[in-house]
Amino acid sequence: MKELEERILRDGIVEDGDVLKVDSFLNHQMDVELFRAMGKEWVRLFDGEGINKIFTIEASGIGIACVAALEFGVPVVFAKKSRTRNIAGEVYHTEVPSFTHGGVSDVIVSKRFLLPSDRLLLIDDFLANGAALEGLIGLAEQAGATVVGAGIAVEKAFQPGGERIRAKGVRVESLARIKSMTSGQLEFC
Ligand code: G4P
Repeated sequence: MKELEERILRDGIVEDGDVLKVDSFLNHQMDVELFRAMGKEWVRLFDGEGINKIFTIEASGIGIACVAALEFGVPVVFAKKSRTRNIAGEVYHTEVPSFTHGGVSDVIVSKRFLLPSDRLLLIDDFLANGAALEGLIGLAEQAGATVVGAGIAVEKAFQPGGERIRAKGVRVESLARIKSMTSGQLEFC
């Protein structure tokens, strides 16, 4: 998506350790007009797929998911990174390792909000190693819901997540796919 790529080139900052800082418009200060354009693009891409719910993970995915949900006219459910492990029964649970921060998060979603009849679009801001998306797919599988696909704002295509998720047969639509980045040089696929 040209608009997002241009914004990354204009306002994104490539930091050490393969990190792209986009906090002036994507995941700290948020440009909701840009989010609306992104939402419209996912609506176009997933037209006719019968998506009835958007499923994301806290924290940075939520804003993008909410604006996209307005364009789809469907509700949003977000998986929570939980600190309480004693949660069996009412929730689906999985573990999501963080490659960038280290450690593992317990991630949960209430059984009331994911149903076997659901046709889900997964939304997240970044696709890097794919751990967050795999966690969401795992929760959807536990619920027996259908994952129609994933809408990603920025895919770092030089990291393995995109390939891993697509290898599972999940359709991934990333609006900006970065082929390579070094300070001062960023190339899209
Ligand atoms: P994953 O998102 O594909 O699972 O990959 P990874 O485990 O490597 O990413 C860990 C966290 O870092 C994720 O956020 C992810 O969105 C974020 N991230 C990965 N690469 C970049 C990057 O280049 N720039 C920025 N700004 N973030 C990146 P999180 O910590 O799980 O959640 P949250 O930040 O949404 O709370």
